Amino acid sequence: MFLNWLLTFAAISEAAILQPQVPHSIGRPSLEIAPKQPNRPLPESPARNKTCVVQSHNDSVTDDSQYFLDALHQCNNGGHVLLPAQSKYVIGTALNLTFLNQIDIELQGYLQFTNDTDYWQANSFRQIFQNVTTFWQLGGNDVNFYGGGTIDGNGQVWYDLYAQNIYILRPVLLGTIGLHTGSFTNLNLRYSPEYYNFVANSTDVLFSGISISGFSKSNNTAKNTDGWDTYRSSNVIIQNSTINNGDDCVSFKPNSTDMLVQNLHCNGSHGISVGSLGQYVGETDIVENVYVYNISMSNATDGARIKVWPGSPAELSGDLQGGGGTGMVNNVTYDTIHITNVDYAIEVTQCYGQSNLTLCNEYPSNLTISNILMSGVTGTTSKKYDPISGYVVCSSESVCSNITVNGVDVTTPTGVTDEFTCGDVDESLLTNINCTSTNRGSN
Ligand SMILES: *[C@@H]1O[C@H](CO)[C@@H](O)[C@H](O)[C@H]1NC(C)=O
Ligand SMILES: *[C@@H]1O[C@H](CO)[C@@H](O)[C@H](O)[C@H]1NC(C)=O
Ligand SMILES: *[C@@H]1O[C@H](CO)[C@@H](O)[C@H](O)[C@H]1NC(C)=O
Ligand SMILES: *[C@@H]1O[C@H](CO)[C@@H](O)[C@H](O)[C@H]1NC(C)=O
Ligand SMILES: *[C@@H]1O[C@H](CO)[C@@H](O)[C@H](O)[C@H]1NC(C)=O
Ligand SMILES: *[C@@H]1O[C@H](CO)[C@@H](O)[C@H](O)[C@H]1NC(C)=O
Ligand SMILES: *[C@@H]1O[C@H](CO)[C@@H](O)[C@H](O)[C@H]1NC(C)=O
Ligand SMILES: *[C@@H]1O[C@H](CO)[C@@H](O)[C@H](O)[C@H]1NC(C)=O
Ligand SMILES: *[C@@H]1O[C@H](CO)[C@@H](O)[C@H](O)[C@H]1NC(C)=O
Ligand SMILES: *[C@@H]1O[C@H](CO)[C@@H](O)[C@H](O)[C@H]1NC(C)=O
Ligand SMILES: *[C@@H]1O[C@H](CO)[C@@H](O)[C@H](O)[C@H]1NC(C)=O
Ligand SMILES: *[C@@H]1O[C@H](CO)[C@@H](O)[C@H](O)[C@H]1NC(C)=O
Repeated sequence: MFLNWLLTFAAISEAAILQPQVPHSIGRPSLEIAPKQPNRPLPESPARNKTCVVQSHNDSVTDDSQYFLDALHQCNNGGHVLLPAQSKYVIGTALNLTFLNQIDIELQGYLQFTNDTDYWQANSFRQIFQNVTTFWQLGGNDVNFYGGGTIDGNGQVWYDLYAQNIYILRPVLLGTIGLHTGSFTNLNLRYSPEYYNFVANSTDVLFSGISISGFSKSNNTAKNTDGWDTYRSSNVIIQNSTINNGDDCVSFKPNSTDMLVQNLHCNGSHGISVGSLGQYVGETDIVENVYVYNISMSNATDGARIKVWPGSPAELSGDLQGGGGTGMVNNVTYDTIHITNVDYAIEVTQCYGQSNLTLCNEYPSNLTISNILMSGVTGTTSKKYDPISGYVVCSSESVCSNITVNGVDVTTPTGVTDEFTCGDVDESLLTNINCTSTNRGSN
């Protein structure tokens, strides 16, 4: 008996010592979209039939980009690339991954971009919109990225550099550029220099089970760390995620259509935002068919927000100015938003960037807002605008139609309930809130 045990033990030890450890794949998680359904289902993504394990120098310094790129090329067109748990990957090269086709990337380990701000400013991918650049660009067809691992943007050096110069180009952590059919599930995104996600020129992409967090450890705050910005994209689903950041939790930028956002916990953000839109003269911005459902929003400037620039130029700051663009925001629903310590439960403005409301009304926005429903917004605001808890102000009644607000139950710290600032909107559609008309600008 004892001998038997000893032999077994010896065999196990030998196996553990002599055999190289075979990395264990968890496999692709469920891609269930629930409870609300998108306007069209995601196309099927067939199972993969080959695995490539990505090597690593594992020294936290040497660039592992070539190893990653090699594995992606080897397993492209039907395979699965695995970055095992316990492995650390340093990415110090801008990777153009728009060639991906029918591939799964399973990141169990830890992937960090280098802190070489000179290199990244010279080599990150320019995305045309608002000087956005990305560390890498993931695109192509039928790509699933998952695994429970972490992508770290090494943001601190960027937060400190931005404090010295607001014109530096800070890369977005995850650039989804030209991706048609894809998913990002169960990933931790940390310390992005700028937005966490920029989704552009993409269709049929799901984000689920994403954890976003990363704050500055110095006195220079992490600015513009939006959770997601969508641009020139349609049928993007963002769900079941937790976002701790310092700018928009999700933001629908120009030409975002058929968007579904549900089951999010946002903390510290600027809300779920449409816009800003109408920033550039001569451009047409469209945001249409958007459904936002079941959001908890804490410590934020806004819950549900639509921000549109006025018809005349305005300047919010040196690197953020605009106004005069055309287009429309149409068919947008916010359904079930619970707020805690949020400045405005709802904010609709067509005077974004313009603090002079008289001037804004003289040049109404060229971008129309129509068929908006904001329903079931509950909770408590911050003291910032107390006794006011919401703001719905258009630049002219002629450019806003069918904006409906109902089922609102929000209270300010001093106990005032559902008191809103309203202007140039059909107040008969703003039910169960009390409108106070003032000439105060929005933030
Ligand atoms: C997202 O959450 C919903 C509701 O909790 C759940 O039914 C669904 O399976 C989740 N989806 C994923 C991909 O985890
Ligand atoms: C693996 O998948 C690819 C793409 O779906 C396919 O072309 C290839 O024939 C498959 N190979 C095997 C061995 O099943
Ligand atoms: C990225 O790769 C694609 C091909 O997949 C190519 O068309 C494109 O020009 C490349 N972009 C850059 C910025 O290198
Ligand atoms: C940048 O990263 C390198 C390698 O990890 C490290 O030695 C260096 O201290 C970092 N520099 C800054 C400014 O954080
Ligand atoms: C999207 O596609 C258009 C048209 O091909 C191209 O001009 C643009 O550079 C692409 N990227 C972004 C971020 O718009
Ligand atoms: C882009 O950067 C340039 C200078 O580098 C600046 O003048 C411009 O205002 C920036 N645009 C935006 C939208 O940030
Ligand atoms: C932040 O600023 C405070 C007050 O100006 C100062 O006492 C503190 O040392 C600073 N902290 C860091 C990390 O720079
Ligand atoms: C948005 O779509 C409209 C209508 O198709 C088009 O005119 C406009 O150029 C697009 N804008 C951008 C930024 O792609
Ligand atoms: C409005 O958008 C929703 C999804 O958010 C969609 O189901 C509905 O069909 C759209 N309505 C119209 C009239 O297109
Ligand atoms: C909101 O901020 C407070 C104070 O910083 C913090 O204690 C609380 O956990 C935050 N709420 C959430 C949901 O993170
Ligand atoms: C606001 O704009 C109006 C109209 O152009 C102008 O008369 C007024 O002086 C402006 N007010 C401020 C504070 O700039
Ligand atoms: C935009 O609106 C302003 C007035 O608000 C008007 O003077 C201008 O002609 C409009 N531009 C376009 C392109 O519609």
